[in-house]
Amino acid sequence: MDPEGFWGDIAGHFYWRKRWDKVLEWNFRDPKVEWFIGGRLNITENCLDRHLGSLGNKPAIIWEPNDPEEHHRVLTYRELHTKVVQFANVLKNNGVQKGDRVCLYMGMVPELAIAVLACARIGAIHSVIFGGFSAQSIADRLMDAQAEYVITCDGAYRGNKEIPLKSVIDDALVQCRFVKRVIVLTRTRTPVSMIKGRDVWWEDEIKKVETMGNPDCPAEEMDSEDPLFILYTSGSTGKPKGVVHTCAGYMVYTNYTFVNTFQYEPGDIHFCTADIGWITGHSYIVYGPLSAGATTLLFEGIPTWPDAGRFWEVVDKYKVNVLYTAPTAIRSLMGFGLGPLQGKQLSSLKVLGTVGEPINEEAWHWYNENIGKGRCPIVDTWWQTETGGVLISNMAGVTPAKPSYATLPMPGVQPVLVDENGKEITGNNVSGNLCIRFPWPSIIRTTYGDHERCRTNYFSAYENMYFTGDGCYRDEEGNYRITGRVDDVLNVSGHRIGTAEVENAINMHAGVVESAVVGYPHDIKGQGIYCFVIFQGSHGDENLNRQDITQTVSRIIGPIAKPDKIQFVPGLPKTRSGKIMRRILRKIAEGELENLGDTSTLLDPAVVDEIKKGRL
Ligand code: WT7
Repeated sequence: MDPEGFWGDIAGHFYWRKRWDKVLEWNFRDPKVEWFIGGRLNITENCLDRHLGSLGNKPAIIWEPNDPEEHHRVLTYRELHTKVVQFANVLKNNGVQKGDRVCLYMGMVPELAIAVLACARIGAIHSVIFGGFSAQSIADRLMDAQAEYVITCDGAYRGNKEIPLKSVIDDALVQCRFVKRVIVLTRTRTPVSMIKGRDVWWEDEIKKVETMGNPDCPAEEMDSEDPLFILYTSGSTGKPKGVVHTCAGYMVYTNYTFVNTFQYEPGDIHFCTADIGWITGHSYIVYGPLSAGATTLLFEGIPTWPDAGRFWEVVDKYKVNVLYTAPTAIRSLMGFGLGPLQGKQLSSLKVLGTVGEPINEEAWHWYNENIGKGRCPIVDTWWQTETGGVLISNMAGVTPAKPSYATLPMPGVQPVLVDENGKEITGNNVSGNLCIRFPWPSIIRTTYGDHERCRTNYFSAYENMYFTGDGCYRDEEGNYRITGRVDDVLNVSGHRIGTAEVENAINMHAGVVESAVVGYPHDIKGQGIYCFVIFQGSHGDENLNRQDITQTVSRIIGPIAKPDKIQFVPGLPKTRSGKIMRRILRKIAEGELENLGDTSTLLDPAVVDEIKKGRL
């Protein structure tokens, strides 16, 4: 195996201003990983400019609005190029320079993809924040990234809801006086307050560029290892980390995995249902498909509105070839039965994909039989924000699928299972913690502003290995099956949420003395959020207290982290040294009340009985 030779060959297919001098330098101690050293490029020239000759009139982005009655939009590669260039000039006119951090807090509109690419065009570092995060979460991220520029919309449509994005930004900016400019796109016509000297309208800024006679915006020449973006994600401790990806490695790896995992063929319409606010959207709505010259479908709405047939309607409307979605969406749609599939053809589909969490066999078979009609390979793609692209997956129609298994690693990826003591577990039919032994081009480079945190989080648990935080089983044939997180990170509807973060938010509520948060199996969400809370509130109404706590979490983190269950408890199970025994709480939340494991180190065993009695 020669990963460097392999990736060097792949990288040769891109457009470089200057070729790299050396493919790879790395050590996992610092850690330091550099790919395509000395190379000069701009990812947008690879996503846009180089396609103009042959694919200029081909659709790059198809946009399906939230409301099926509203007109959809199609942007050809040429049109997308023009719009990216225009907006890149808007950014420049507003003072944005190479290396500046730009925060994007927008709904799923084409302008979000345009803004992402415009940042990349001028070498600004984009940091997209998902619309489900609160003002406080945004402020934390803006401060961490020291982002002086924000791009947002007046509002966003999601099903029958309207989310007042600009107003949330205004709340966040109360704490962030260093933000110099907010560019606001009109989408919902929700009333907004535009602050003089700080806020400008997207449309007005575009007009200014047009009156300048639509100048070009030559792409900034970037070093391979210049940062491309920061994306915040939750870990087991403290505040979210800003995962940093760089230009060349990320481009090469997302393109390669896009083409090979889904077996992309020219002309294919690719529908990834994720939000661009998550890594899946970055890699497989924007950069992977566009660098491959594919047509990517961007959907503003949700799977269940106006009804649970929406995905299938979209698939038929645009003759979608590849559908890439999350197990939670499949399970939720499964719950509506086969009614919403009535009259839907789905005959254009060739490949199905899943991502974000383990898929249970029942959902896998439902997807296979009712959506793929038994003729579309399903790729179960395992990866993470930190990995940038798919690391373990079957390749559609090329390597066999196995329900609930991600199956085999991508070329050059070297998975290792280790036990608690860091000892490698060899052989087959074994379980352990999943690590990766060798770097791939889009591995996390650092956590923004705090390299030591990157080291301790990912590279210190096991020597010379990247630790994923996932548990994993390897079967007789060497197929990998991800069993879920082994750290204190929850996966709720495919969204990653740290239990420590939720606890911190709950503890902000005045009546809360202490709390412990664990996950429990949830039929649709995969995991639900179960909170054990010691409460000394003023009003005696338990339900009202629950609502207050929920409201607090929503305010501090965002609606996506809302607790599913809140149990008031007299105490928490602790060791003599004061450590909460989460293992016991997890068992209780899961409903496993009999076999709690070793409880000999408990300070006060009676509290466990109380908690068991009050289980929700
Ligand atoms: C965590 C990463 C990168 C995709 C979106 C989520 C879980 C992801 C699978 C899969 C089982 C999966 C893991 C991983 N996960 N894909 N195919 N099978 N589990 O990105 O928010 O960074 O979360 O999602 O637990 O560590 P993320």
